[in-house]
Amino acid sequence: MLKVLVVLGTRPEAIKMAPLVKELEKYPRQIRCKVAVTAQHREMLDQVLNLFNIVPDYDLNIMRHGQDLFTITGRVLAGMREILETDRPGLVLVHGDTTTTFVAALAAFYMQIPVGHVEAGLRTGHKYSPFPEELNRHLTGVLADRHFAPTGTALDNLLKEGVPRENILVTGNTVIDALQATVKTDFVFADPVLRRIDYDRRRVLLVTTHRRENLGAPLRSVYLAFKEIVQAYDDVEIVFPVHKNPEVRRRVEEVLAGAPRVHLLEPLDYEPFVNVMQRSYLVLTDSGGLQEEAPALGKPVLVLRDTTERPEAVAAGTVLVVGTATETVASEIRRLLDDAGHYRRMAGAVNPYGDGRAAKRIAGAILYWFGFADRLPEEYR
Ligand code: UD1
Ligand code: UDP
Repeated sequence: MLKVLVVLGTRPEAIKMAPLVKELEKYPRQIRCKVAVTAQHREMLDQVLNLFNIVPDYDLNIMRHGQDLFTITGRVLAGMREILETDRPGLVLVHGDTTTTFVAALAAFYMQIPVGHVEAGLRTGHKYSPFPEELNRHLTGVLADRHFAPTGTALDNLLKEGVPRENILVTGNTVIDALQATVKTDFVFADPVLRRIDYDRRRVLLVTTHRRENLGAPLRSVYLAFKEIVQAYDDVEIVFPVHKNPEVRRRVEEVLAGAPRVHLLEPLDYEPFVNVMQRSYLVLTDSGGLQEEAPALGKPVLVLRDTTERPEAVAAGTVLVVGTATETVASEIRRLLDDAGHYRRMAGAVNPYGDGRAAKRIAGAILYWFGFADRLPEEYR
């Protein structure tokens, strides 16, 4: 019996690990799967755990309002020590690029417990962009023993860094597994604001922002572009579930409070969120996960950052990296609102990120690597 400990801290880790937790639970004779949450996020994490019916076996409850990287790092490291000493898992699984991810992997390394890294190998090549995620992911890769690369590009990045091919499986991204299970054409919104919008007659711009390197002036600059757009186009509605980071909220209030047809909402549950995305015209974001979800739904994305670690949908033409300057953001939005040909070219649904079977492949590889299966699953292409 292999004891697997899945470690999560934030909303996106929970969304993307939920399909894997469910899959690992299908092998009770080979795998005992437990879930540890650091709760680097609290409400935004709990929303997802509730939706997917995941009850954590351990909960470090580390979140503090306005926390910084030192606090998160110290609290996760100390907390993971206790969990690992009590639980003694045979494999720790972490996801992506958060500080929870990196520090949980570090704790497992200190205890000489093997680490599997889900969503491994994404790179921008810029140390401070995204910050601190680029190095969190890189360092986790150095600590990890097994790497689940979502795409061929991520595989190539790992090979270039010297990771042995036999320790990597190309799986697709579990975000597509979660998305396919959640988007429904007949979804009815409980939120009165979302229910009232006429998605056929209005053009909905779905917005999220939270990157640390965008806090302050860059956020102000993109919000000014949004304000200009709603003033110029009266068929545009902005749906903006505002991240709980107090720095984000301060800027949103400062620039967008009271702007016409700008709906500032609390973070939405994953279900209404992806269903509003499905009904949107365009997505404006600095998020990582949205760059994977929106192309799968055929929604153009303007990325409010200078770099991306997800080049596949940029190459496919669905995603454009536009930075944070007011003029550029506003003019790229205008182009998508005014030029039907340009919109159509960007809105072709592409799905370079997965086929909905990533969790199955990851579980299959774990079974193989730990001696419960005689071959590796076919890779995602
Ligand atoms: C974190 C991750 C980032 C990831 C993002 C997903 C790090 C360093 N950052 O950034 O990689 O893309 O999550 O959203 O790992 N807050 C709440 N309730 C919540 C969540 C957050 O109140 O449920 C507030 C708290 O005041 C908290 C602040 O937001 O201190 C910032 O949270 P933090 O996890 O430090 O940073 P994020 O920007 O959320
Ligand atoms: N999301 C959500 N509710 C929201 C905003 C986003 O459920 O109000 C989901 C979204 O579908 C995606 C994930 O949260 O799967 C992205 O998280 P976030 O942008 O916070 O982090 P990142 O992907 O940048 O690490």
